[in-house]
Amino acid sequence: MNLIYGEHDNELLQAHAHVWNHILNFINSMSLKCAIQLGIPDIINKHGKPMTLNELVTALPIHPTKSQCIYRLMRILLHSGFFSLKIIGQEEAYVLTRASQLLVEDNPLSVKPFLLAVLDPILTTPWHHLSTWFQNDDPTPFATAHGMTCWDYAGHEPKLNHLFNEAMASDARLAASVVIRKCKDVFEGLNTLVDVGGGTGTMAKAVAKEFPQLECTVYDLTHVVADLKGDSNLKYVGGDMFEAIPPADALLLKSILHDWNDEECVKILKKCKDAITSNGKVGKMIIIDMIRDNKKGDDEPIETQLFFDMLMMVLVTGKERDEKEWAKLFQEAGFSDYKITPILGLRSLIQVYP
Ligand SMILES: C[S@@+](CC[C@H](N)C(=O)[O-])C[C@H]1O[C@@H](n2cnc3c(N)ncnc32)[C@H](O)[C@@H]1O
Repeated sequence: MNLIYGEHDNELLQAHAHVWNHILNFINSMSLKCAIQLGIPDIINKHGKPMTLNELVTALPIHPTKSQCIYRLMRILLHSGFFSLKIIGQEEAYVLTRASQLLVEDNPLSVKPFLLAVLDPILTTPWHHLSTWFQNDDPTPFATAHGMTCWDYAGHEPKLNHLFNEAMASDARLAASVVIRKCKDVFEGLNTLVDVGGGTGTMAKAVAKEFPQLECTVYDLTHVVADLKGDSNLKYVGGDMFEAIPPADALLLKSILHDWNDEECVKILKKCKDAITSNGKVGKMIIIDMIRDNKKGDDEPIETQLFFDMLMMVLVTGKERDEKEWAKLFQEAGFSDYKITPILGLRSLIQVYP
């Protein structure tokens, strides 16, 4: 290997900086997690106007010896777009950006629970086992780290069950608000709907409220729905979607199929088909998931889809699929057609017909 670069010094140093940047990339996530745990977005939000460093330090629950370090934490978060600065009189003061508004606890669309789940040591530890997993026959790095699947762990460990359900509920609030506003027609004419793997029911509750004539069922594992009570047009049913799915005009599957490998998905989809064609009816599935873009490039949405694909590989047996891969699954499970509506940023709504 030629270690003397000479005229290519610049390229060498750029490559070196690129490697450093990637080695240290986790610092973006961890700095953000720290700011959320200290409640910085909430404190700036409650302040109601731009907040100077002194005001922020005074309001924060930190040890006085650490006051000097808040400036440095805020500096990296300014750089990554989570805060910006305004000049107030002679002083600079912090304000929230669109991104940090989404991390304020009181925001009904807050992404804070998702951040706290994904960056909890229970879910970050498996990343340290990724290369070991490549060399053994465990189903996931999560199983290599914890000795069981993510679903079994959540069934045994209330902390993960809670973190996970809260994270999914926060995501469902965002998805429901967009889907109900932009895709009302998808639910029109339906009498019954089952939200398969519907978690604690955030999405189904929003749909049930918007369409009072629609009988909605949240179907999920027993440990998820055991203590939950429905109301007029919403009920909870515990069960295993690999065994059976309650019959309905339509089945909603939000963030479900990306959790499973192709073989498992075909099994779930066949159960779905049985459920929507029972009693001679011809219903549909409404899937909300990512359709991976095959474009190459270094733009943020592509990177985020690749992050999610890796997350699915590390925590569960799933993956993010491109349109061809989705079509193949639908065909293998015996569905005849599908329609994609790209309404949710990185994710789409896919209606699938028997
Ligand atoms: C990623 S979460 C999605 C939750 C919800 N659909 C949402 O998007 O907010 C996956 C859900 O599938 C449920 N699940 C996992 N295995 C299941 C099974 N065998 N039968 C029914 N639900 C299952 C989990 O408990 C979890 O609530």
